Amino acid sequence: TTKRWNMNDIDKNQDYIKEAAAVLRSGQTVAFPTETVYGLGADATNSQAVSNIFQAKGRPGDNPLIAHVATKEQLQRLVTFVPAYVDKLIAHFSPGPLTFILPSNGTCASNVTAGLDTIGVRIPNHPIALQLLKEVDTPIAAPSANISGKPSPTTADHVFEDLEGRIAGLVDGGPTGVGLESTVIDCTQEIPVILRPGGVTKENLESVVGHVMVDPGIIDGEGKPKAPGLKYKHYAPEVPLWIFEGDSNGFQKLIEKEQQNNHRVGVLCSNQSAIQLSHDNIYQLGDSMEEIASSLYDGLRYFKQQAVDIIICESFPETGMGQAIMNRLRKASDSTIK
Ligand code: TXA
Ligand code: MG
Repeated sequence: TTKRWNMNDIDKNQDYIKEAAAVLRSGQTVAFPTETVYGLGADATNSQAVSNIFQAKGRPGDNPLIAHVATKEQLQRLVTFVPAYVDKLIAHFSPGPLTFILPSNGTCASNVTAGLDTIGVRIPNHPIALQLLKEVDTPIAAPSANISGKPSPTTADHVFEDLEGRIAGLVDGGPTGVGLESTVIDCTQEIPVILRPGGVTKENLESVVGHVMVDPGIIDGEGKPKAPGLKYKHYAPEVPLWIFEGDSNGFQKLIEKEQQNNHRVGVLCSNQSAIQLSHDNIYQLGDSMEEIASSLYDGLRYFKQQAVDIIICESFPETGMGQAIMNRLRKASDSTIK
């Protein structure tokens, strides 16, 4: 059975953090909230502990994990070199939803990096995650706390849906904020390269370090993405997901056409678009792009409990958070309809 610590109970918070830290130190897995999504943590210096993560998630062993630390000093202890632009990025965005790929010094177990000579490190901006990391005082390897291929968990219930009975513990800190995973940025070259768009946007990064490149593998889907995880189908709900590009008239017609084919349709769209549509099974994602990012994975999971045959999601402009939103939607979807 999986132990669940409810952090609403303020008086017990510190005891629970200590208990969860002890479980982590003993080599077992504990899921915990971050500002992006829930992570499934294990001691990154203990290869047996790390292999428990891969096993619980059903994750392919060639997909490296992110090491989570509480401070810049702890980050420096895991790598051989920190370029000057990373110092600037840390000053602006850490703690925060930004993961730095840097040359590893081998402190973490080799299955954390899937044998690569680089390691992803991030300082999450969440009080519970930071308290837990300080308490364990060792880097914690943590992928998203979902079964591999499913949408990442943004609530403790999502984690339990996927992993109850498969992990030692779950720290329930309520819903996460950003809702999409961190931006992964390769910092091993002179110019940083975004490998996975996420909570810190390209525009945010460029305002601090000037030019930033984007791995072509994540934009056109051709070529092999440099973040090994992005080559897998991902974030997917259990029924087909289509992305619709066009105006609300076209959206309405598509819904009606599918209904005539006896397909039960679930719709994901912004609050503004929902007003334009006449349909009885709509999950409203919110008004702003930030709200849409924050509720996207809950929306994808929501239709699992609904009897639908297809989910159709509106497409969004690809600036700011829109880049990460559309990246995840494309990875989760079966096709795009115009
Ligand atoms: O927001 C997040 O980043 C969440 C929370 C829990 O921190 N974690 C997360 O981890 O999304 P995960 O394992 O689901 O995704 C990590 C991504 C994968 O696409 C992986 O391939 C890439 O980062 N990655 C990790 N280490 C890498 C490395 N050394 N080189 C290239 N890509 C790497
Ligand atoms: Mg993941």
